[in-house]
This record gives sequence, structure tokens and C-alpha cells, in this order.
Amino acid sequence: MGIFYDEENRLFFIETANTTMCLAVVDEEGFLNNVYYGSRVGRDDLFYLIGGKENPSVPSRNDRDRGCYFDKARLEFPSGGTGDYRTPAITLRDPDGHDSSLFTYVSYRISETKEDMYAFMADGRKVRMPATFAGDSKAACLEIELEEKVLGIRAFLSYSVFEDSDAIVKSVKVVNNSDTTVMIDRLLSSNLDLDLSAFGNHQPELITLSGSWARERRLDRRPISRGNSEVYSTRGESSHQFQPFSALCEKNTDDSHGTVYAQNLIWSGNFVCGAGMDQFETVRSYIGISPEHFTWDLKPGESFQAPEAVLVFTEEGFDGMSHIFHDLYRSHLIRSPYLHMERPVLINNWEATYFNFNTEKLLAIASDAKKYGIEMLVMDDGWFGKRDDDNSSLGDWHVNEKKLPGGIKRLSDELEKIGMKFGIWFEPEMISPDSDLYRAHPDWAISSPGRVPTRIRNQYVLDITRSEVRDYVYECVAKILRSADISYVKWDMNRQLADLGSLGLKGSEMGRLSYLYTLGVYELQGRLLEEFPDLLLENCSGGGARYDAGMLFFSPQIWCSDDTDAYERLSIQAGTEMIYPLSTMGAHVSASPNHISGRVMPFDVRGAVALSGTFGYELDITAIPDEERAAIPEQVAIYHRVGDIVREGDYYRIARVSDIGLYDAWMSVAKDKKRALLTYVQCKGSPQTGKRLIKLKGLDPEKRYDLKLIGADTEGSRFCSHGKKHAWNVFAPGCVSGRSLMNAGILMPVLWGEYGQMMLEITEREN
Ligand code: DGJ
Repeated sequence: MGIFYDEENRLFFIETANTTMCLAVVDEEGFLNNVYYGSRVGRDDLFYLIGGKENPSVPSRNDRDRGCYFDKARLEFPSGGTGDYRTPAITLRDPDGHDSSLFTYVSYRISETKEDMYAFMADGRKVRMPATFAGDSKAACLEIELEEKVLGIRAFLSYSVFEDSDAIVKSVKVVNNSDTTVMIDRLLSSNLDLDLSAFGNHQPELITLSGSWARERRLDRRPISRGNSEVYSTRGESSHQFQPFSALCEKNTDDSHGTVYAQNLIWSGNFVCGAGMDQFETVRSYIGISPEHFTWDLKPGESFQAPEAVLVFTEEGFDGMSHIFHDLYRSHLIRSPYLHMERPVLINNWEATYFNFNTEKLLAIASDAKKYGIEMLVMDDGWFGKRDDDNSSLGDWHVNEKKLPGGIKRLSDELEKIGMKFGIWFEPEMISPDSDLYRAHPDWAISSPGRVPTRIRNQYVLDITRSEVRDYVYECVAKILRSADISYVKWDMNRQLADLGSLGLKGSEMGRLSYLYTLGVYELQGRLLEEFPDLLLENCSGGGARYDAGMLFFSPQIWCSDDTDAYERLSIQAGTEMIYPLSTMGAHVSASPNHISGRVMPFDVRGAVALSGTFGYELDITAIPDEERAAIPEQVAIYHRVGDIVREGDYYRIARVSDIGLYDAWMSVAKDKKRALLTYVQCKGSPQTGKRLIKLKGLDPEKRYDLKLIGADTEGSRFCSHGKKHAWNVFAPGCVSGRSLMNAGILMPVLWGEYGQMMLEITEREN
């Protein structure tokens, strides 16, 4: 791992253990090209890859047709308007409206210190932006300074690598050294131009994650062609609809094999992300904040910081990609003290009661929950103002004494007596039109003059770009947290931004709003964790609309989706796990029939699916069937026994129900490969198909393993056919080598009935 500069050939080598990115300073004028990114190569003079140092590879020898160079070169920081007609990474506009720019090399700096990233609110408050940090690992960092001579703008491109990771993280800062304001119309965090040879000279495919409310992060795969294919959010959050992520891969790339070039943005607001092929079949992949609803009037002396992007290259398919993201985020992004800790098994009252609860009901749930091994009660929406449905009171963060006589303190004291921890829900960024806060401060809602703001879920968004609004919001949350023993906060956001307008911004500053809004969220959560360092924070946005790397900088877990149906969750969680570690994934067992889908599902299947995330319950434990309640202690025990493998291990995809329709299977394997957990979920029975061969992954071929069925009816009732019960060991081996388990596989039974699950605890046999 390291970063090296070959001065003679003007080449930068950014190296991780298994990859190299090589950048070249081309021509006397100094255009920055990306010469190579892929598997590790030598520090050779790679200039030949871009056609050498002669015309037409360098524009100064071809003054007659410089455009031919700009439109063809593999540019690292392409700017608009000077001959590169592809998607630019930056577009600037001078006060007279000219929008062409061209950046050339000035200098570089290599260091071993990864500096924190900061940006500024409109009132000048400095906010730490989410970004990777070195942690316990060594880092190597490169900053390349480029300049736009005519406009007097400098761009600082930062690259960092860590000793224990194959990811490269990138960011861009732009500084105005001129004496006039220059508009930034577009500034992406990463641009990567790749030759088709990176994909075996075939058209690559683009992987993105898309969905909707209750249907987040489904895998999309499509070939890219000439022209761009992109995903985006203009909603002021990373969104249910798309992820700030894309991956380019070869046609035959699968979970275990094949080339992947992936990118993910550490940002929780608007973004754009995509790829396309040009006339010369160069593939351009890009990611950054969305140019929609964005302009930044960069005043003299000001700087603008774009969020950090993560680039991953691997030849080990999607599992290989996920391992790099998961390890990077666990070691270099998530700061919470809970990251490596067993999280308390929680029970959330949302699906149990919705708004209809009081202290007695919550305590009844809590006492029952305690008996069955659950450790924390989370009180969801509806405890404040006069909120009996979702039409009022957001902003009025004082307890509803009718529901909770004696207030939050009494409830938390009672919970303490029972021996339960206490968590609470907030939606701090919002304001209901029917609230005391709105009646007092209607101008605190984001809105555009002369326009009735669009209501979504009958609420408006607070203008947290203004410091007085942010300070008020902060105090509301902090006051409650100071008033009682509260271990956990669920921070929700249930609508998107619209009608962008702020009284704190004037004229051309208005284009800053969506960026500053996201920064405002970061400032609030950063401040909260500073005052309450032991708080377990779970982010949420109408389910999983803000499941992104930016939020992971603040909260070690995020509510994955409002869809708690275990079948639906298979695809939602599989998509989420492509990028984010399982330790971050809020997953609960809920009641059947499921409230969103109406699907009826056995309790053990609901448990098995939730056990691959931060485990908990979302049901009225006092009202579920006795046999379900009786099954809870075993599920909780499994969580305590194997939770560390899920949290810390390597994740492997075995089968996706979205591909094969019949079943889904995945594994978590401890880093030392001594323990693993296989979860197999049957979605459809299929008579006469015999058994299913599953090849395990990630084990040590030299070790021998015992396989133990956990969390199922080992008596065999799930395996019965024609009234005969088969014992599990008819299908499972005794002690087998990792080599056989991975190359030959194991036979899983076709379970009786529609939905079924099997969890296998796999343990190295020591002797
Ligand atoms: C959306 C969340 O995803 C739910 O879990 C719940 O907290 C509701 N909001 C409450 O309004």
C-alpha cells in the first residue's frame, strides 16, 4: 500500500495490496489523465497506455485539433465547454455567463495523514463531513492541485488508501482565488474513464440498486451502451428509489467471480451516479452530488468541499466487492462505540400499537418482552404534542401527558425497574402545519415565496440550514435525552424536500440549500453524539430512504425498510448487503400476516431473516400466539451466540431468490474461519425436485467443520413428507473438510410447505 510519484515520467501510482491506479500529467500544459486502474501492476512507465507522449496523445503538438484530444483522453477531472463533450466532473460559470473551463496540473503533496473533512454552514459554522479515517491502520494520501487559469479557481483532488483495504477514497475541494464570484453548476466527487479492455473488451454491465418505499435496494443489472445510464436523487435524501452506488462489471461477473468497478458516495443528500460509453468506447463512470437543485456561488476566498467517494476494484465478483466495502466501513467510517458490540435486542412498538398506546400498554409489552429475553423497549412515533395520527404535532416535542402521565421520566423509571433499557423516536427535521411550532414560526418551513408548499405525509421540512432553527431542534431533542435514562434514539425523516427556499439564503445563494440541508443534518447528529457519546443512534427515513454511508458516520445501524415481511426482506437485505455491513442493518421480527404485504410466514423464518441484521422485534408480544412467544428465547439466544459472526464476519451470497425463485441462502464467516453461519430460506416447496445442493463459501479448505442445525424444529416436522419424518442428518454430513463443503457442497432438504428456514452453525473441529 502506498502512493508514489515517478517524477521523470510524471506518473502517480496509488496502490493498495491488490490494485493500482495510475495517473499521468500529460503535456507541458499538464492535463491529468487516468492511465490505469485495475489489478496491481509494476511502477513502470505506463504512458504508452494512453498512446505515448506524442501527437495526438498530447494536445500541444496538435494545436490544429486540440478538441480531438479532449474528447478522447481518459481525463481524471473533465471540465465542461472546452472540447470534451462527455459528462463533465465540473462546470463553472463566470459572472458573465461563460461556462467553459480547463484544469491543469500545478503541484502535488503526499502524506501519511488522512485529514478530517469540513464544510461550512451559511452562518460560518464549521461542520465535520462524513468521510473515511485511518483508524488503526496506516494511510497514504495524495493531494493533486489543479488550476483553472482564466477563472482563478483551484481544485484539490484528494486520494487516500489504507493498509488494510483495497478501496481508494477520493474527494474534491474547489477554491476561488479570484476576485469575482464564480458559479459552480456541477461538481462531482469522482470521474473514472476506463478502456473497454477493463471488461474483457465487451460492453460492461451496470449494477444499481433501486426501489420505492417498502421496496428498497433491489438489484438492477443492465448493459451499458453509448450514452449514459444513471441513477440519482433530487429528494434531499439518498432516497428509497436509488442508492448513491453503481458498479460496472463484465457480463459474466457473478457473486463469486469476475471484474467489478464499484463506486459509492459518502453522502446523504442529492446525488447522481452512472456510467456511459462514448464514440471511442471509452467508459466513463461518475458519482457526486446531483447538479439538479444545486449551484454554489463561490465567492472570492471561499472553498467548496464535495463529499468523499469510495472506489472499489476487484476480480472476485460481488462478494469480493462487498467484502471491501464492509471492511472499509467497519474499520474506517463507522465511529460508534457500538460498532463491535452486541446491540441490545429491542422491541419497537410501531407495528404493535402505531399511535394508539399509553404508559400501561408500553409497560405491558416491556414486561412480557423482558420475560422472553428482550432487552430494550423503543417507543416510536406518537408520544408528543397531540399526535394520535400522522397529521399533527411534529415540532412540538413535549410529552403527551394524556398518554404518558408522569412523562418520559416516569416511563423510563418504570422500565428500569423491569430491567429494560429505553429508546425513543424523533423526527427532528420536520414540522406539522398543525403544530404550535408552525403557528409560531411559519417561516421556519422550507418554502418558495408565493407558492403553497407541497405537503407530504401532511408535513413540511424545517429549514435547518438556519442556525436558529437548528439550535431549536437540537435543544428539543437534547432536553428530552437529558431528562431521563435513554439509551437509544431512532432518528426518522418521513418526507422529501420540495419548494426549495430559505430565508437564510439570498439570491444566488439559494442554490446552496440542498447541500446545506444535508450538512445541517450532519451538524445536528454530530452535536448530539458529542453531548451523548453513549447514545445508540439508529437512522431511519420512512424505512430505508437514508441508508447510506454518510449516515453510517453517525449511526452504527439504520432501519432497513418499513417492509418487515421476511420474504420481501430477502431481496431488500441482499441489496443492502451489497454495500453495507450486516452490523448496520436494522431488521426485526414482526407479526404475521405482515402489515404491509399480508403475507403469512412462520415465526422461525421471520427470525432467521432478522438474525442477519441488528436483531429485534416489532410486534405486540402480548398478543401473538403462545408458541411464537415461546420461540423468542431461542431466537435471542441464537443472536447472542452467533451475532458476532454476522457483525464482524465476511458475508457470502449463496443463492438469491430474485434469481432462482425457490430459495435464498447466504453465509457469514468469521475472519479466522473457525465459525460460520449459513442461513437458508425456502420460499417455495417444489415436489419431486429432490434435495438442493448448496456449495458453501469462505471456509478454510484445510479445516474440518461440524454442522449443527439451529433455530428449527430438529425433531423433523419441517422435513416431513407423506407423513414420515426425516431426521436432519439424513441430509447433512457429519464432520467434513472445508474443501468438500465448498467444492462438493451439502444437500439441503426441500422443506415441507411454502416457507421454511434452516440455519446451520458451522464450527471448526479442533482435533
Ligand atoms: C417511518 C419508520 O420507518 C417507521 O418505522 C415508523 O417509525 C414511522 N415512520 C413512524 O411515523
